[in-house]
Amino acid sequence: MDQDYLQFIVNIKQKTGIDLSLYKEAQMKRRLTSLYQKKGYSSFKDFYSGILSDQKIMNEFLDRMTINVTEFYRNGKRWEVLENKILPRLLAKKKNLKIWSAASSTGEEPYTISMILSRYMPLNQISILATDIDEQALSAAKAGIYVERSLAEMPPSMITKFFKKEGTVYKIDEEIKKTVQFRKLNLLGDPFNKDFDLIVCRNVLIYFTEEAKGELYKKFSNALADDGVLFVGSTEQIFNPGQYGLEVEDTFFYRKIKS
Ligand SMILES: C[S@@+](CC[C@H](N)C(=O)[O-])C[C@H]1O[C@@H](n2cnc3c(N)ncnc32)[C@H](O)[C@@H]1O
Repeated sequence: MDQDYLQFIVNIKQKTGIDLSLYKEAQMKRRLTSLYQKKGYSSFKDFYSGILSDQKIMNEFLDRMTINVTEFYRNGKRWEVLENKILPRLLAKKKNLKIWSAASSTGEEPYTISMILSRYMPLNQISILATDIDEQALSAAKAGIYVERSLAEMPPSMITKFFKKEGTVYKIDEEIKKTVQFRKLNLLGDPFNKDFDLIVCRNVLIYFTEEAKGELYKKFSNALADDGVLFVGSTEQIFNPGQYGLEVEDTFFYRKIKS
């Protein structure tokens, strides 16, 4: 790794606690280089000085590195499997499921979980933990205001039921909002809660190194209750789930093997 980027990684870790060495190098470096060049810097060293002296540059750095792309009902077929296969099995054993959306971005994912769960229980019995490293994304999630593009994959009946259109934006139902608690959490550093029945962690592991991914699978497995499920993104198949105490329950769903 070149010295300029290496030193940047050390500085950012000290300043923010974010460890860029656990993200795929070529991809991250490319994203950040194109940002600093656009801003008129000529090296990671200069870029870091800019970050230190201007909070706006810091925010742009965070925004570029976190990649918040998301939408409601992303990869709809998988949500159908959750609704029709995974949740009925989990609910047959236990009524109050402990659920975590582990890289929740601007909230579309945890709110989708809540809407689906509302088919099985009253909203006031639902409680979902949603976490992300990005505070700006968490604020947007708490506001719960979306543009039409975020809703493109949603069945129209759900849009009518759970959103109010105001001008060009869609406001999410207040009762749905109350079912999700948003917190800041760094998957690559912070400790995890335990005994989850469902952990949804989608479209973030792709950015991490193989080593970081392996560590995370172990931590997720430890955070699951027996028979609990890890639901990953549609390009994030786990090879050899057995080594983490997991087994395939359906494509992209892994069940914790009883310990
Ligand atoms: C592409 S979005 C995925 C959102 C949603 N899970 C989905 O599948 O639509 C990736 C999210 O991961 C978050 N993220 C990146 N690194 C993280 C880390 N170390 N800990 C927690 N969240 C992280 C980003 O802030 C971003 O909101």
